[in-house]
Amino acid sequence: MLKIGLVGVGGISGAHIPAWDAMEETELTALCDIRPGQMEKYPGKRRYTDFDKMLENEELDILDICLPTYLHADFAVKALERGINVICEKPISLNEEDVARVYGAAEKRHVKFMVAQVLRFWPEYELVRRIYESGKYGALLSGSMSRLGCRPKWSWDGWMLDEKRSGLVPFDLHIHDLDFLVYAFGAPKKATSFRAKRPEQDYINAVYEFGGFFVTTQASWFAAPYPFGAGFLFQFEKAVAAYEGGKLTVYEQNGKVIENAAAGPEKSGVINLPTTNAYANEIRYFTDCVLRDEPADKVKPEQLETVIRLLHRL
Ligand SMILES: NC(=O)c1ccc[n+]([C@@H]2O[C@H](COP(=O)([O-])OP(=O)(O)OC[C@H]3O[C@@H](n4cnc5c(N)ncnc54)[C@H](O)[C@@H]3O)[C@@H](O)[C@H]2O)c1
Repeated sequence: MLKIGLVGVGGISGAHIPAWDAMEETELTALCDIRPGQMEKYPGKRRYTDFDKMLENEELDILDICLPTYLHADFAVKALERGINVICEKPISLNEEDVARVYGAAEKRHVKFMVAQVLRFWPEYELVRRIYESGKYGALLSGSMSRLGCRPKWSWDGWMLDEKRSGLVPFDLHIHDLDFLVYAFGAPKKATSFRAKRPEQDYINAVYEFGGFFVTTQASWFAAPYPFGAGFLFQFEKAVAAYEGGKLTVYEQNGKVIENAAAGPEKSGVINLPTTNAYANEIRYFTDCVLRDEPADKVKPEQLETVIRLLHRL
């Protein structure tokens, strides 16, 4: 049985904790948050308000980092240096140099590290990547991706609205779509972007050009109660794949329409995240890598560096 610890019991931990609890091979034994009240709704786990104490007292096989962005790299290195495998929420950092620092720490102790870039584990996004790779519907001609919502108000200490701590819309939101693009299609050849950035809102429109096709993207924190939604539309020579309202539909040239019910429209928690199993998938994948002692290389350091570099130019 692998012993798991999780640090940062805020919004996104609500998607991680049930995934750890549901697996037979793992026991989420310890939680850590500087706000003790955050841990009360999870009985039967040891609770810490001091991360160092958790590391000292627990013999963890895996640490799950769900902390605010600016703490990810330092906390990851601390655990990796103690020989603990680490899965960490996105982004790894706002600084490109941290990628080598964190992966270097993992290598030194022969343990595994992975950033939980969740779209790589999201069935509908993964399907698009597979269609592209297989050439089933011919060449990809164009794509559009969007991730729109309102200014987040739930974060601890308002860290998300502080550019130095969160990186705002590029690093908090748009990173999901850009990471998927780099994962599925490689580094874009060219990026052109427009941004409406004010203290109350942040909106990005970016076009990424790849060899032979382009993808337009948009991401927002609107200063209005616009409901969160994410989706895409990829146009291939012989089909269109559209992910709208939490549902992926493939429209084939021959008139056939394939409705894919992989993701339900259910919602959960304050962030209104769809309850597909992508969070469980990423946690399952990393756990399997640890159990089988295989490299956790679905997320590659050089891809993370490319994404950070591009995000800084938005
Ligand atoms: N993959 C996704 O879909 C997704 C969605 C939302 C957030 N995220 C990422 O998850 C991370 C956390 O975001 P969130 O929305 O859960 O934030 P949050 O503010 O809701 O939660 C962060 C928690 O960390 C705790 N904390 C702060 N400093 C600490 C410390 N030194 N030691 C222990 N605990 C500490 C806070 O008390 C808080 O409970 C961010 O990096 C964000 O980018 C990912």
